[in-house]
Formats: sequence, C-alpha cells, structure tokens
Amino acid sequence: MKPIDNRKMHTKDLICIGHRGAMGHAPENTLLSIHKALELGTPCMELDVYSVDGHLVVFHDSRLERTTNGTGYLLDQQFNDLRKLDAGNGEKIPTLKEAFEAINLKAGVNIELKGPDTAVPVAEFIAKMRKTGWHDDLLLVSSFNHRELSLLRRLDPRIKLGALIVGLPIDDAAFAQSLGAYSVHLSLEFIDRRFVKDAHNRGLRVFVFTVDHPEDIEKMRELGVDGVFTNYPERVLKNNAVTDAVGWP
Ligand code: G3P
Ligand code: MG
Repeated sequence: MKPIDNRKMHTKDLICIGHRGAMGHAPENTLLSIHKALELGTPCMELDVYSVDGHLVVFHDSRLERTTNGTGYLLDQQFNDLRKLDAGNGEKIPTLKEAFEAINLKAGVNIELKGPDTAVPVAEFIAKMRKTGWHDDLLLVSSFNHRELSLLRRLDPRIKLGALIVGLPIDDAAFAQSLGAYSVHLSLEFIDRRFVKDAHNRGLRVFVFTVDHPEDIEKMRELGVDGVFTNYPERVLKNNAVTDAVGWP
C-alpha cells in the first residue's frame, strides 16, 4: 500500500459498521459486544447468523471451540445445549431476536447469513421485526453465499442485500448488480480505486472489511469507500463529521 496523502484525508464520512458488535472490546457476537457497540455510538453493526435446530443464533464459526467452551460443529447441536455454553465472559450465544431487542432500533443491523438454509428463516424473522418498528433502512442482509441472497431477493425484494466477496472479480462489481444488491462488501486486501468506481457507477455502495488500523481507515476515506466494518468503532467515528444518523442511507 502507498503512504496516505494527508492532503486528501478526511474527505468523506465512512459509515461505521461495528464488526460482530464491537469485537475489539467484548466477546464477538454476544450481547456484551452489541451493548459495547451501542455505547460507542456506532450507527450500524454486523452480526453473523446461523439457523440451528430451528432457531436463528448469532455466531461466526462453523465449530464451537474458538469462541466457546463447547466442542464440535455448531449445526450438530441442540439449541438448549448451545445455550448452556459460555461464549466469553459468561455470555450466552444470543438468538437473533435477543440481539434485535438489545439494539432496540438504535443502530442499523447487517445480518450476515453464515450457515446454509438461512434465507428462509431470516426472511420470516424480518417480516416479524418490521411489525415492531424495524424499517427497511435499518436492515441489510449479506452473505458470501450468493445463492442464499438470490433466494432472499425472490422471497422479499424489499430487503437490502450486501454481496460479500474476498478477491477481485474480472468484471468488478457486475455480480453484485446482477444480484440486485444494495451494496458490495469487499475485503481490505483487495479493494482498489477501479473497483470502487465501477461499483459506484452501478449504483452500489462499497463497504470494506475488516478495517481497524487508523492508516487503513483513512485510506478507505481517500478511496471513496462508503463504509467499513471495524472491531473498534471509535477509531472510525472520531474522524466523521456527522454522528447522529443510523442505518443504511
Ligand atoms: O461482513 C463482513 C465480514 O464479517 C465478513 O467476514 O468472516 O468476519 O464474517 P467474516
Ligand atoms: Mg461477518
């Protein structure tokens, strides 16, 4: 990466997306992490979601070992057994409903579909949440699994979609446009100016993960990226001009 051009710094506000809540400060994807993200004033946060034993739960890995005191594959567990595990600092693995109740309309949510067969239960979940005040500008559903996103689009065209990718496709952001996505989410190691320009020309927002280092945060501003996923929301927020908007503009 080239050094930052200081003359071009602070050219653009970045939408700050707390990664797995605020996992730089609290155990990832727990209610503690969600509360920390809210306390830091993040306008949006990202949570990873699986459907396990008929329940939507907030969890990142396919296995339990890294973040809990359990063992084995997440999808092999019974929901009641999962709830007995310690997901860090005594926290339970939260359900998506508990996560939404904790956020309580105070931030936009990016539900990342991690597990298979999550599009249908997430569409049903969102339909219920809308009745409690969660409007479409507070919701964004993303996935590396573009088949699930495509299914979600057919199930409910109102839901904003974010197409996740690690790498640079030959035709830049065309895949996300053909999905009918709202945004394209690219990893930090691959983002470049050409991709940002192409995505913007197609009417797509560009969000980059995971951006924690202050130099990388400023580089993303300079590239014209629209938002970043970060484990440390305060590092992004401190150089933003507008701090009171929540959700996905
Ligand atoms: O959604 C952005 C980012 O969270 C995607 O990667 O592995 O952290 O879920 P991962
Ligand atoms: Mg994620």
